Amino acid sequence: MNKIFHGDSLEVLKNIEQESVQLVFADPPYNLSGKNLKTKNSKTGGDWSKVNETWDIMEEQDFIEFNNNWISLSKDVLKPNGSIFIACSLHNIGEVTMGLKLNNFDIKNIITWQKTNPMPNMTRRVLTHSTEFIVWAVKGKNWIFNYEILKELNPEKQIDGALKQMRDVWNFPLVQGKERIHGADGKAIHPTQKPEKMLEWIIKGFSNENDVVLDPFCGSGTTCKVAQNLNRYYIGIERELKYIQVINNRLFHQNKIEQLEFKNTLFEFLLN
Ligand SMILES: C[S@@+](CC[C@H](N)C(=O)[O-])C[C@H]1O[C@@H](n2cnc3c(N)ncnc32)[C@H](O)[C@@H]1O
Repeated sequence: MNKIFHGDSLEVLKNIEQESVQLVFADPPYNLSGKNLKTKNSKTGGDWSKVNETWDIMEEQDFIEFNNNWISLSKDVLKPNGSIFIACSLHNIGEVTMGLKLNNFDIKNIITWQKTNPMPNMTRRVLTHSTEFIVWAVKGKNWIFNYEILKELNPEKQIDGALKQMRDVWNFPLVQGKERIHGADGKAIHPTQKPEKMLEWIIKGFSNENDVVLDPFCGSGTTCKVAQNLNRYYIGIERELKYIQVINNRLFHQNKIEQLEFKNTLFEFLLN
């Protein structure tokens, strides 16, 4: 428990105890890198791309198989009443929902994340992309759905001020300001850092204290940090060493008392 694994989730997931995890949150590769916009006579330092990472480039058939495989392995580690949440966009929602269906997950909601501060569209040939999705699916019956907690979290209220059911459209800004982790060069350290509030709503709404929350693509460690704050156990998997160091910092600075334990127990270098 409370471990970050450095390695490929397709391998690491096989080493995690079966049926031990209550909630999987995954923000997998969207397969949209390598498609730079060639800007003619660019004066801004070169081609424009939103995300351009080697972990985010696959042939379509490989990408379909990759999604099917990690979703299948995630199902093995989920408890019979466990839930999976998968972040995606128009680029990969097809492969994600196909992977869930092939593995007999029951899709319950597709949450639309409406970004209140989307990036402008540089091509000027399509509408500004201002949404991403989070697909929620369950493995079996009796899933956790903390209805009252979600009502309390909902910023929208009834006309008389009473609490209102949480809907499937969530409004958050892209991570910015103090929450965004920057490197020494002043640039954002991870291109797809997710808002902590999104994880807070998912973890509070769909798991209970002392449950295990697992993120197979944990990037800068958002899920693990929020799970830790909310008294859940966490397991994170990340392939890139540079991000392991970011997670290290993020969890370490949050709770200095854990520093000593952290050195002994937090890291397990399964691969490499
Ligand atoms: C979309 S990002 C996740 C960002 C994360 N939600 C956050 O808030 O920082 C996906 C992450 O998965 C990692 N990754 C890609 N393929 C992987 C694999 N097969 N196994 C483990 N990690 C992988 C990438 O290095 C990247 O950091």
